[in-house]
Order: sequence, then structure tokens, then C-alpha cells
Amino acid sequence: MKSNIQDKTKLVNSVFSKVYKRYDLMNDILSLGLHRIWKERFIQWMSPQQNTKLIDVASGTGDIAKLFSQKTNNNSEIVCIEPNMEMLEEGKVKLKNFNNVRWINASAEKLPFDSDMFDYYSISYGIRNVNDINRTLREAFRVLKTGGRFMCLEFSKVDNEILDLFYQKYSKTIPYIGKFIVGSEKPYKYLVKSIESFISQKELVKLMRENGFSNIEFRNLSNGISAIHSGWKI
Ligand SMILES: C[S@@+](CC[C@H](N)C(=O)[O-])C[C@H]1O[C@@H](n2cnc3c(N)ncnc32)[C@H](O)[C@@H]1O
Repeated sequence: MKSNIQDKTKLVNSVFSKVYKRYDLMNDILSLGLHRIWKERFIQWMSPQQNTKLIDVASGTGDIAKLFSQKTNNNSEIVCIEPNMEMLEEGKVKLKNFNNVRWINASAEKLPFDSDMFDYYSISYGIRNVNDINRTLREAFRVLKTGGRFMCLEFSKVDNEILDLFYQKYSKTIPYIGKFIVGSEKPYKYLVKSIESFISQKELVKLMRENGFSNIEFRNLSNGISAIHSGWKI
């Protein structure tokens, strides 16, 4: 069990070490720009208030931190948690003008913070990469203040048969696009596999409930290609 976890950590870390330079470009290409709209929708639903604190976990190159900061007129404190140093450094450079953003090299399963610290917790396209979803959710619940909100954006299960057929065919081409642009298919084989094997919208609701969250809701984006989950610490 322990070696499975170590294997996944190594695999995920090597995937992001291969793609970090072209991560943003590949997101635009592979989603045909849709990831930008989905992230906008995520922040719109969060509708953060000024003078609040966000912990953005699996921050990657910092898209969510940037949108949150802009939405709060930069009157907010944001901590980005990212275990892959190359992704973290890309994010730092991209957000160098945001003085309210701090970067910490850590993992979702073990957050280096006391309990009850944050108003919002976000994880965007990160939860399917973690080793232990239950530990991740427990940590999210712990670091949120009472009244704080957990929000997750992730690839999910498509609820339309025709779109699903098309999506499955399209997924098969993703490693070839990866080979062409990044020079390696392996990270994109992992991407496709990790999406296929990730749990459904309802299963994630169940895990959120089991780990303490209340008033849980989800919204599908583009028929469930992605989904946003929201829950509260009450
Ligand atoms: C697909 S990227 C998402 C980046 C960004 N949040 C976005 O929406 O574009 C996933 C990120 O999760 C990070 N990650 C992988 N395992 C993690 C873990 N156990 N805890 C926190 N982040 C992790 C990876 O290093 C990578 O930067």
C-alpha cells in the first residue's frame, strides 16, 4: 500500500516535471480554451468577499489564485500549495505582481497550517492527482474556519451519450497531441487514464459528506466534462 502511494507520488511528480513549461499552452489546446471559461465559472460561483483568506491547493501555475485575487480587487490573502517545484516556480513567475500571494511547497494530504485558518479552500484539477482523497478532504475541512467553503473543480463523468462517445474518441488523440507539442506521450496517457478512473460527481459528494462537509452541491460544466463541487464547514 505504502509503495503504491510512493509510486503514484513519483509518477505524478514526473508527469508535471515533464509538462510544466508548456502546461498553460497545453491546457488551452487540449480544452480548446474551455478551461478558462470553467475556471471563471468556478470563481463566479465562489463569489469571494474582500479581506478573506484562500488556500489554493494543487495550484500548478496559479490560475485560480490569480482569478481569486482579481475578483477581490487584490484585497485578500492567498496561499498556493504545490508539491512540484517546477510548476511552483512557473506560478511564482506568472503571479510575480501579486503581492498578496504566497507559495508553499507541500501536499494536499498534509497542509502546514493550524486548524480554522481559511475562509475558502480551492482545488482545481488537483484532486484526481492526490494519493489519498479522504486525507485531502479531512485536511481541507481542518484548515477551513467554521463557515468556510470548500470548492473543487475537476474532470468528471459526461452525462450525454453522444458527447461521451465523441469525448472518448477525442481522448485517444490526446497522447499524440502531447507527443507533438511537449515531445512525450507518457504524461498525456496518464492524464487520460486519471480522468477515466476518477470517481463520479455523486461519489465525490458522498466522500465530502463523510469527511464533514455540509450543504454540498455540484454543477456540471459542458455536460459533466468538468464539474464544480461546493461544500461548507458548519
Ligand atoms: C492539472 S494541475 C492543476 C493546476 C491548476 N490548479 C489548474 O487548475 O490549472 C495538477 C497539480 O496538482 C499537483 N499535485 C499533484 N499531487 C498533489 C498532491 N498530493 N497535493 C497537492 N497537489 C498535487 C501537481 O503537481 C500539479 O501542479
